[in-house]
Amino acid sequence: MIAKLKLLTYSLLIFITVVSCQNENNEAKNSKNQTQQSINPNGDSELALLMRAMFDEAELVKKQITNGEPIKISLKHDEILTAEATQAEKVASMDYKAYANVHLQNIKKLKSSEPDQLIGVYDNLIKNCISCHQALCPGPIVKIKKLQQNEVNKE
Ligand code: HEC
Repeated sequence: MIAKLKLLTYSLLIFITVVSCQNENNEAKNSKNQTQQSINPNGDSELALLMRAMFDEAELVKKQITNGEPIKISLKHDEILTAEATQAEKVASMDYKAYANVHLQNIKKLKSSEPDQLIGVYDNLIKNCISCHQALCPGPIVKIKKLQQNEVNKE
């Protein structure tokens, strides 16, 4: 299973050419003096915009959990299944759909969690962001890891 996943990941990596999935460096350079509006020079797909909003929401939820505040999920996460992507063939893959469905389950769990379960559920949510990105879109991983509760690299 792991070997198969690795092979799949490597073969996908070879085919990855899209800017939004590789712009980690640009992003780091730009993030100081730009808002998050124009990171992708190819224009922003619906999925890219959704992902950015998901990032911001997760950042907020992380703070809310840390402060013991009620968490607020207002994005329509279901759109992860339908949003148009920079590379249509990526989101058409079985891998993408599987990770997307896990994402939706995690969001559902997060909404209905008791306060003492929140950290664990949140953690699984972010782990799944990273897993999908490892398989399909490695560029933003460094950024996504900052969403983990614990700064230690958990891999
Ligand atoms: C099912 C797979 C999948 C999951 C789960 C997923 N992503 Fe993504 N993400 C993608 C793909 C594919 C793209 C590329 C979108 C495009 O360019 O159209 C992307 C793009 C991004 C981007 C870059 C957007 C930009 O500016 O171009 C960020 C940031 C991001 N995701 C963060 C997250 C976060 C945070 C989570 C979890 C809360 C998450 N992703 C969960 C597949 C996923």
